[in-house]
Amino acid sequence: MVQCIINIRQLVNVRTENILLRGKALQELHVLNNAYLLIEDGLIKEYGLMKNLSINNFNEQQIIDAKHTTVLPCWCDSHTHLVFAATREEEFIDKIKGLSYADIAAKGGGILNSAAKLNAATEEDLYIAALKRLNEVMGFGTGAIEIKSGYGLTVDAELKMLRVIKALKNNSPIPIKATFLGAHTYPTQFKNNHQAYINAIKNEMLPIIAKENLADFIDVFCEENFFSVDETISICNAGKELGLKPKIHANQLSISGAVEAGVKLGAVSVDHLEMMDDKAINTLSTSNTIATLLPTAAFFLRMNYPPARELINKNAAVALASDYNPGSSPSGNMNFVNAISCIQMKMLPEEVINASTINGAYAMELEKQVGSVTVGKNANLIFTKQIPSLAYLPYSFGNNLIDKVMINGKFI
Ligand code: NIG
Ligand code: FE
Repeated sequence: MVQCIINIRQLVNVRTENILLRGKALQELHVLNNAYLLIEDGLIKEYGLMKNLSINNFNEQQIIDAKHTTVLPCWCDSHTHLVFAATREEEFIDKIKGLSYADIAAKGGGILNSAAKLNAATEEDLYIAALKRLNEVMGFGTGAIEIKSGYGLTVDAELKMLRVIKALKNNSPIPIKATFLGAHTYPTQFKNNHQAYINAIKNEMLPIIAKENLADFIDVFCEENFFSVDETISICNAGKELGLKPKIHANQLSISGAVEAGVKLGAVSVDHLEMMDDKAINTLSTSNTIATLLPTAAFFLRMNYPPARELINKNAAVALASDYNPGSSPSGNMNFVNAISCIQMKMLPEEVINASTINGAYAMELEKQVGSVTVGKNANLIFTKQIPSLAYLPYSFGNNLIDKVMINGKFI
């Protein structure tokens, strides 16, 4: 089936070739004014200027009139914990009253609270709840997403989570990548015997995950009181042997050495980065590992924002993601991620759009399918309402500026 979108005021992030954007290149956002876009069988076939379109080649059913609005590639959200059993607003209140994220975790709240609830939930209930969230974020413009396990923390429950993610993958119209995060925290019974839990990850979870093809990446929460640098390296190496590339929770609560470990492991990305020193910034900026920033987690936990400007000025490849999860970022709205990245991290509108599209796609190894308006990629597109300029998107934060979302050439 052929479709032709006409009268696009601005066609955003048109690219003839894929490139991971670093440093200054993050500002280069190619926009075609007064454009058309041709779709065939859900894929982008061609685009160009309206003045060069022979509109008579198309019949009425094939034409979609964008009515002089803006069209962008969908957001690529490369870090989420979208599968969970219950929300945690009671901890939100504890935080308002003065407890820190670490205090709540030490009290048995946090990840362990989510794990207890997830262990009690059925696979079907988890699937239904996650699907609802997935549909919701697609409505906010997300057209590709990564989802982690890590609220199971037992062999059965980690596998249950990964099977839910696999079912979402099989039934969802958008590309989904699965990440195994068995090393999210130590379950209470392994608090004083870390090695036994690491053995369970390596000898019991990973072999089944590999056999059933349940994950694309491996993640570890590398942090004081969670997994040490040495533990992180050893778990990631076990994953790598089975073909899972690392993506690491790094430097969220402390300067832990996680960034350097991630770079050494050849991680696809190191994510969070609220606590960075010069060494971590320099190591990351001169590596091929993507710096994935999750500013809504810093916002929600009232922490320092990651040093986006320093990273970009030092030539790092920066991506943005939502970290959608019940404890530190109970929202998967990438429009808000973009706004807060401009407002609090002083990223430019062009930089946030690139970081949330093409670089997010790279952070999931989905750059051949999504992340830009490029011939051959999925027609996963955001149609905005009437907006005066691209900068208006992050500027007008909290307002819903999306008119329609198209996935594989179909409006959802
Ligand atoms: O990315 N930091 C570790 N994991 C999640 C939060 C998990 C939770 O609090 O449930 C994060 O922020
Ligand atoms: Fe996370």
